[in-house]
Amino acid sequence: MKVAVVGATGLVGSVMLKVLAERNFPVTELIPVASEKSVGKEVEFKGKKYKVVSADQAIALKPEVALFSAGGGTSLEQAPKFAEAGITVIDNSSAWRMDPTKKLVVPEVNANVLTSEDKIIANPNCSTIQMVVVLKPLHEKYKIKRVVVSTYQSVTGTGVKAVEQLMNERNGIEGPKAYAHEIDLNVIPQIDVFQDNGYTKEEMKMIKETNKIMGDDSIKVTATTVRIPVMGGHSEAVNIEFENDFDLAEVRSILEQQEGVVVVDDPANAVYPMPKDAHEKDEVFVGRIRRDESQPKTINLWIVADNLRKGAATNAVQIAEYLQKQGLLG
Ligand SMILES: NC(=O)c1ccc[n+]([C@@H]2O[C@H](COP(=O)([O-])OP(=O)(O)OC[C@H]3O[C@@H](n4cnc5c(N)ncnc54)[C@H](OP(=O)(O)O)[C@@H]3O)[C@@H](O)[C@H]2O)c1
Repeated sequence: MKVAVVGATGLVGSVMLKVLAERNFPVTELIPVASEKSVGKEVEFKGKKYKVVSADQAIALKPEVALFSAGGGTSLEQAPKFAEAGITVIDNSSAWRMDPTKKLVVPEVNANVLTSEDKIIANPNCSTIQMVVVLKPLHEKYKIKRVVVSTYQSVTGTGVKAVEQLMNERNGIEGPKAYAHEIDLNVIPQIDVFQDNGYTKEEMKMIKETNKIMGDDSIKVTATTVRIPVMGGHSEAVNIEFENDFDLAEVRSILEQQEGVVVVDDPANAVYPMPKDAHEKDEVFVGRIRRDESQPKTINLWIVADNLRKGAATNAVQIAEYLQKQGLLG
């Protein structure tokens, strides 16, 4: 299968190349795409070097599928051109996520909504993906009424420039800034821009995308999203109120059986999920599983995942795998 990776020189794009190789996605020809300034540069895939081409050149090469991680503007402009040429686009930006004509997919949760008609498929926001994988089996069993989430998000979620800012600050070097404030030795309670209601765009993404992926607008969600000087992945403190009561041992067992989730929960031995351990892993890790003693039918969880993997590249590749296995490509 011919596969284009649009944004192949970026943080998410380079992880996509790794994930495609590791999962042995049947790539017969890789078509790396980046901005004009990178055309002609080389990227490596499975020990072979491939020259970066422009989006127009990539369309002419007619890949079956194109994995996009090149920002919202590029997606808005280029994804429809790929789709018109019959190429299935799986897009990592926020450009198409809330478009009612586009599917927003986390394979473990709602891959069944996909059909061969879907030519632009949206990959959700990283912090939403890791949360819904855990919410899904609990919603099925106990029916979720309300979710209160606070995030602790890695600088890798902002891209190459943010990682450079953190490292430069750590090493006392002046350089370009991805954030309005210092990030090293700091915590920034703002991810993306503020909306009129006082929430940031990232917070509103978590709220709206959760409802769309779970296919249930009755689930109430409120979020506070925070950037921290960490590299390996995003962490989330999640409080969930259910319609029905639960048994903690049963919750643990449900999560242990959920595809893509690993329970890491042994507080007596200081064992719980941490971004350092989630780094470069495809799974979502959950721990600190405990009852909220302040109100009935409510639980607290701690969820960690590598935002560049399950939060972006891995989820996109899993969508491609599903489409290929179900014969929905082309
Ligand atoms: N980082 C995350 O955790 C995460 C998670 C989910 C989704 N996303 C989304 O994924 C996208 C990329 O994020 P990132 O962190 O990988 O950013 P990044 O490191 O800044 O990389 C951006 C990539 O897009 C390419 N690009 C820029 N303009 C282009 C154009 N006009 N045509 C073709 N390619 C172009 C860049 O190519 P050059 O090298 O030539 O500039 C580079 O390969 C964003 O939409 C982001 O919202 C990121």
